[in-house]
Amino acid sequence: MEWWQNQAVYQIYPKSFLDTTGKGTGDLRGIIEKLDYIKSLGAGAIWLTPIYPSPMVDNGYDISDYTAIDPRFGTMEDFDELIAKAKERGIRIVMDLVYNHTSDEHAWFKESKSSKTNSKSDWYIWRDAKPDGSAPTNWRSIFGGSAWEWCEERQQYYLHTFAIQQPDLNWENPDVRQALYDAANFWLDRGVGGFRIDAIVYIKKPKNFVDGEPDSDGKSNVHNMIAATEGILDFLHEFKREVFEGKDIFTVAEANSVKPEDLPEWVGERGVFDMLFEFSHVNVMFDNGEEFWHRAKPIKLSDLKAALTASQKATRNTWYPIYFENHDKPRSVNNFFPDDADKNLAAKALATILFTLRGTPFIYQGEELGFANEPFNSIDDYDDISSHGQYDLAQADGLSPEDALRAVHKFSRDNARTPMQWDSSINAGFTSGKAWLPVHKDFKNCNAEVEERDADSVLNFYRRLSALRNSSDVLIGGEYEELCHDSEEIYVFTRTLGDKKLCTVVNFTTHDVELPAQIKGAKKLLGNYADEKNYLRETEAAIYEF
Ligand code: NOJ
Repeated sequence: MEWWQNQAVYQIYPKSFLDTTGKGTGDLRGIIEKLDYIKSLGAGAIWLTPIYPSPMVDNGYDISDYTAIDPRFGTMEDFDELIAKAKERGIRIVMDLVYNHTSDEHAWFKESKSSKTNSKSDWYIWRDAKPDGSAPTNWRSIFGGSAWEWCEERQQYYLHTFAIQQPDLNWENPDVRQALYDAANFWLDRGVGGFRIDAIVYIKKPKNFVDGEPDSDGKSNVHNMIAATEGILDFLHEFKREVFEGKDIFTVAEANSVKPEDLPEWVGERGVFDMLFEFSHVNVMFDNGEEFWHRAKPIKLSDLKAALTASQKATRNTWYPIYFENHDKPRSVNNFFPDDADKNLAAKALATILFTLRGTPFIYQGEELGFANEPFNSIDDYDDISSHGQYDLAQADGLSPEDALRAVHKFSRDNARTPMQWDSSINAGFTSGKAWLPVHKDFKNCNAEVEERDADSVLNFYRRLSALRNSSDVLIGGEYEELCHDSEEIYVFTRTLGDKKLCTVVNFTTHDVELPAQIKGAKKLLGNYADEKNYLRETEAAIYEF
């Protein structure tokens, strides 16, 4: 087993973690202060979302310098200290590589846009306008609006899969690839323990750019036109050879749309990365995984289970990053449980799955405290760029502004980006200044200090689960098998290693349900209710031993 297989990973959104200066946004010194807290969760690595210099149009995913630290987060000395202090506690720091695009403020783009003949002229994806002056294709960017932006200076359009300020790099150019590999190696030389690699499925573009089937706004989702284009694996194998191969690190790539059956090409020895974040279970409410927030359907439990089971099976011989939350998704208690479910029970129920599926559990800051969504009053209160895009898309589809806002409430990425709730003091102890996003209204009941003192809190449940998982060879390596698949009420699966067998049972409803026959007689190891009944209570979750 590798070190990243028998410990959890803790994901930090630095801007919202802990502010040590009163400026209203979090910083590296705040993370250093909380290393013991993170260790208490059994984490062996911290994944930091981007901390590089950035105009912050997309909160750091628009990078203007790949080998420096944004002064808002601190200095390179702070970073080195973080690596060292984390190492003392057996924690590695994992950086986010955003290599599909840069910021439009990156020196490379500034040069590239200046003429058609400069030395970086083909470092990005430039195309002429159509004869009528319109964009080269009808592609819609992931954040809404055209995926093409006209550049007056160069008299051409450039492609941006995400925001206008995030021009796509041209990976066909070997100099671009080399510059990116050099940047990754710069961080390895500083001692980082791995990489999460952003939006990797988009780096290879098709040979011919053609219009796609238009939707209600006349545009076609760029994702469907460029994701996982044939030939992408050649680039990725080169990336592996130049950067990761033979190093004691792990890589986890964000790969929306790689199907479970294609996973062996992407992960493990034959593949490129150690793990892949695919989206099948978190996008189960969207038809074909297309994220139109206002078109989300209620989750069918059997669909969610089918997605998880397919991923578990596809990674039987490799490895899987287990997650229900990250900085792009709403809080899982709202996402996967009925509105009337008790949020603490729901948080513990999801944690029970997180720590008992086969793979490395990824905990997203606040998930371990049972954070719930925090809807803001008006669309103007949202910082998240995709919330604005989705608000417009919903209205283009005929929704009223009120209904469009309701969809934003449910799915906005800001739900997961509100400041960490450390204690019951002003701003939940996150900042002494003005927090960049509103602090959750419920912070006095739900924060690390309160939960630290409560033996029955979500936080302490996470600690127990993590300790159990990290010391159990069955939970780390055992075979996964799903039971009771057709049930729309419970999720049941076993983990088996030799003659040892554990079983996880979770009631996804808010009513009592029968205990599956297979469990009768088994011993309960841990659960979100202290006692035991011969049926499952609302939102009950438990791990049984045979
Ligand atoms: C995925 C990241 O997780 C998300 O936050 C970002 O907006 C896009 N990629 C673009 O980099």
